Amino acid sequence: MAHKILVLNGPNLNLLGTREPEVYGTDTLDDIVGDLRKLAEGQGIELRDYQSNSEGALIDALHEARGWAAGVVFNPGAFTHTSVALRDAISATELPVVETHLSNVHAREEFRHHSYISAVCVGVVAGFGRESYRLAFDALISHLQ
Ligand code: DQA
Repeated sequence: MAHKILVLNGPNLNLLGTREPEVYGTDTLDDIVGDLRKLAEGQGIELRDYQSNSEGALIDALHEARGWAAGVVFNPGAFTHTSVALRDAISATELPVVETHLSNVHAREEFRHHSYISAVCVGVVAGFGRESYRLAFDALISHLQ
């Protein structure tokens, strides 16, 4: 079955590669999205990706995805821990969203232990670095089949 998937990334993830490499590794966002593009191409899946540092732009991207995407791989960055508005946007779109984190947020500062969006996502992948995205993508495709 052909699917269209959105890979959505939030604040500061454009700096991957140089941002706190001891936490997030040295792969760039292009490297990570490139992995998913290869996977998608091999399965006849259309993949679009978007990164923004702005909460409103991420909400708009989710609203727009309602019109074309079958599901979303979403790393909301720090908005994970702060944004009721993103949670409401996910609920409103009724799209299957997989919450994705490079780091194991539960092994880090306490303020990262709570996610506003987990409860409205189909699942969460965290702690596997670049691999988190691949695992999230595979899980989303399985969920859709
Ligand atoms: C992150 C974890 C968040 O706590 C942090 O604010 C990020 C990245 C991750 O991918 O591990 O920006 O979402």
